[in-house]
Amino acid sequence: MLLKNLRDEIDATLARDPAARSRIEVVLCYPGFHALVFHRLAHWLWRRGWLLAGRYVSHLGRIWTGIEIHPAARIGKRLFIDHGMGVVIGETAEIGDDCTLYHGVTLGGRLPRRGEFGQKRHPTLGNSVIVGSGAQILGPFRVGDCARIGAGAVVISEVADGLTVVGPPARPVPRRGAAGEGKPAFLPYGIPGDIPDPIARALSGLLDEVTGLRARVAALESEPAGGADGSAEARPLAAPSNGADDTERLA
Ligand SMILES: CC(C)(COP(=O)(O)OP(=O)(O)OC[C@H]1O[C@@H](n2cnc3c(N)ncnc32)[C@H](O)[C@@H]1OP(=O)(O)O)[C@@H](O)C(=O)NCCC(=O)NCCS
Repeated sequence: MLLKNLRDEIDATLARDPAARSRIEVVLCYPGFHALVFHRLAHWLWRRGWLLAGRYVSHLGRIWTGIEIHPAARIGKRLFIDHGMGVVIGETAEIGDDCTLYHGVTLGGRLPRRGEFGQKRHPTLGNSVIVGSGAQILGPFRVGDCARIGAGAVVISEVADGLTVVGPPARPVPRRGAAGEGKPAFLPYGIPGDIPDPIARALSGLLDEVTGLRARVAALESEPAGGADGSAEARPLAAPSNGADDTERLA
């Protein structure tokens, strides 16, 4: 079971990081993967009551990876932590399946006080949430399924399913390239890949224009010089492209 989970996490990294080339590369070079291995062990120890041992393994993981995950944090399947350095995941944080965190993310508490020991202080991420680099999510609220948190956002209240929020303080922005209802495909960096290239779009418009003009020149060349009676009055072109009186302009 543990091995299957780790294998799924390697595959999730391969699927979501355009830079990852092989499983062995993920195993050797991905701190996010190493952090999960440390966390599985630390969490296992913590749940059996070996709290200090759990904390110590978590601390070793932090030294090795730069990612700090409290051993009590609950982490779902196929979490991908890209780059990783500076990620902090607090004691009562929960993360659903298929989430992605970039470096510098904090799932933290707000002004934790001594009396709050043992209470929920950290956020809960739903499934397929993407959290951009440096985002701070602070407090015991939920971030809904498929939500996207922009790089550098500071989120201090609940985020609805599918919402994108950016900025400190975080505010919703319209979702670009939303792929209909249901679970969207993973977008590296949270960005849709079908953003139209303005240069390609301009070239495509020019090609359409040239094709239309060629057709009109060919139509003009195939006509007699004047009208049927030899007068200079030409027939209008069959399909003026924009409704203007092209005949007059070309005459
Ligand atoms: C939040 C995010 C997912 C939005 O992507 P998107 O849907 O393509 O959104 P757009 O680029 O169309 O931006 C929508 C609006 O939000 C603003 N915006 C986008 N990301 C922002 C951010 N991180 N902080 C502040 N504003 C942001 C844009 O300027 C735009 O504002 P406007 O409508 O006033 O012009 C993306 O910008 C992001 O932050 N991804 C995380 C990337 C990351 O962490 N990379 C690390 C790789 S190592």
